[in-house]
Amino acid sequence: MTTVTERDIRLLRDALGPLRDREQVAERLLESSAKHSFDPDKELDWDAPIEDGKWFWPPELVSLYDTPLWRKMSEEQRMDLARHEAASLASLGIWFEIILMQLLVRHIYDKSVTSNHVRYALTEIADECRHSMMFAKMIQKGEAPAYQVPRVYHNMARVLKTVSTTPGSFAATLLGEEILDWMQRLTFPDERVQTLVRGVTRIHVVEEARHVRYAREELRRQMVTAPRWEQEFTRLSCGEAARVFSVCFVNPQVYENVGLDRREAVAQVRASGHRREVMQSGARRLTDFLDDIGVLRGVGRRLWKSSGLLA
Ligand SMILES: [Fe+2]
Ligand SMILES: [Fe+2]
Repeated sequence: MTTVTERDIRLLRDALGPLRDREQVAERLLESSAKHSFDPDKELDWDAPIEDGKWFWPPELVSLYDTPLWRKMSEEQRMDLARHEAASLASLGIWFEIILMQLLVRHIYDKSVTSNHVRYALTEIADECRHSMMFAKMIQKGEAPAYQVPRVYHNMARVLKTVSTTPGSFAATLLGEEILDWMQRLTFPDERVQTLVRGVTRIHVVEEARHVRYAREELRRQMVTAPRWEQEFTRLSCGEAARVFSVCFVNPQVYENVGLDRREAVAQVRASGHRREVMQSGARRLTDFLDDIGVLRGVGRRLWKSSGLLA
């Protein structure tokens, strides 16, 4: 007869623990998805005209806010810049979401198709499909162009989304989701903002809260269970992702498109204390969490600091 030792029980519990926990988290997220999911085509009035005198993005969240250049700009030019930045951020959001969809598909490829965890991942992919279409419609409605990230980062992400490890994928996901989410939480209640933009950001905030939860729980598990090299690699790749993220955040073409000097605008944004504060506040909830689970160490931490997102 085999004797079951304390150690066996502990090993079994450790092996089952994270997975059972994973199923419970996914079950709750599926319940919430069933209750609070939106069809942007039906939910929002896409035929309503653009409102005069309303912003496409809160001015304080516009990159040049409170810089010497901003003070010289007319109100009309500021609002124009806000409209282009909203389109630039929505384009960035679509880029992230398309990457995320592929990461999620890769994540579930080897997992049980009947598990809650996989069912929830598929639900999230469906959310992101609706979001990307919604953002694209918003860009068109604002009559701004779709802003692509620089070619080199577009191609870098092509490699990342194909080969990244599971914890690396979820860390990048959080980076893409949490900072934009922080801005959107300030946007949807703001009465100075276009009704359509408020509607778009409200839908996104509600549905995104689940995505953040899913990614956080999985990353937390992964930082305990993944092999050491993978944990190290996650710290490094997450720091690099933060650096790329801060470079790509607002496409500098927006400045040219509203008649500003691109180099001067970029330099002023870089020197802006207000902007640094906005970006660091937006990232704080995420950096606190990453610090907590041990992602912000060593070279990774230095990369985070060089991105300007971590004080
Ligand atoms: Fe989304
Ligand atoms: Fe998302």
